[in-house]
Amino acid sequence: MKLLITGGLGFIGSEIARQSIEKGFETIVVDKVTYAGDLERLRGYEKKYSFYKEDITNREGISKILLEVKPDVVVHTAAETHVDRSIKDPAIFIETNVGGTQVVLDAAKEVGVSKFINFSTDEVYGALGEDGQFTENTPLNPHSPYSVSKAAADMLGRAYFHTFNLPVITVRPSNNYGPWQYPEKLVPVMIFKAHMGENLPVYGKGQNVREWLHVKDCAGAVFAVIEKGQPGEVYNIGSGEEKRNIDTVKAILSLMNKPESLIEFVKDRPGHDFRYSLSVEKIKRELGWEPEITFEIGMKNTVEWYLDNLDWMKTKLSDLKSYWEKAYYK
Ligand code: TYD
Repeated sequence: MKLLITGGLGFIGSEIARQSIEKGFETIVVDKVTYAGDLERLRGYEKKYSFYKEDITNREGISKILLEVKPDVVVHTAAETHVDRSIKDPAIFIETNVGGTQVVLDAAKEVGVSKFINFSTDEVYGALGEDGQFTENTPLNPHSPYSVSKAAADMLGRAYFHTFNLPVITVRPSNNYGPWQYPEKLVPVMIFKAHMGENLPVYGKGQNVREWLHVKDCAGAVFAVIEKGQPGEVYNIGSGEEKRNIDTVKAILSLMNKPESLIEFVKDRPGHDFRYSLSVEKIKRELGWEPEITFEIGMKNTVEWYLDNLDWMKTKLSDLKSYWEKAYYK
């Protein structure tokens, strides 16, 4: 099987690429290599995959790659993904996530593929209070420029199934964590800052709840969807591991033997979604997929991985310092 991954140098895309290579699939990575893409993530896999540096909004370039490669399956993960960046600068989220998804869908339609996995997110459903869960039938009600761009891309993919018969399958995972995540997201920000002895900026009172899915489990679910998922369907991918942010941060500090006095409550993110929680009954029932990595084990391994890979983190440090100066709300 030939598998083409857009955003294959990203955090989730590269895990899908690694698993694809391990499974012996012919693996093709397409990536623009923005701040969030890094060839290092496929260290050790050189020569085991083909790589095209391309921006998904470049219609001609993307069409050329797909016509040349003729993939059986496209896994479309390429996107701008960080909510805080979408609050500071929404335009690129619409351009890349909506415009770029349309380009990739068109190219797949032109060449013909057996499956197109369109990466969405639990954030397209909006936010929950203390109770309840999102099922695949929950109406979309996104709140941030990021989640609106993902909801548009999600719906566009389903429109290509209904209108053009393109075999699009939509996946909506919860918050991923694990090795190689760029330190703008909660988990690696906290690990990196704790390591440097800096304060850990927790929004509001840290009461917001996220459902933490290890990236290996997320990629595993994607392969279950490639193998057994039905075109036109949507599958939630979650772990059931719901945590308040403050508890996630305390767990990280405890794994690192660092004091809780490093925690600093900072001004809240505007429009901060309170809670996401996914029902995963459908993917369990229909595809037999279940997460394997508990929060306890996954977070321990993740902290260890970052501490073993500080050199990689340090290559990001100067970009991160200027990002962090602007990122937090005043
Ligand atoms: P994030 O990793 O940005 O993912 P998302 O917003 O897509 O869920 O944030 C996870 C949670 O952590 C979210 O509730 C915001 C919060 N958060 C902080 O409290 N401090 C931080 O520095 C960051 C990056 C996030």
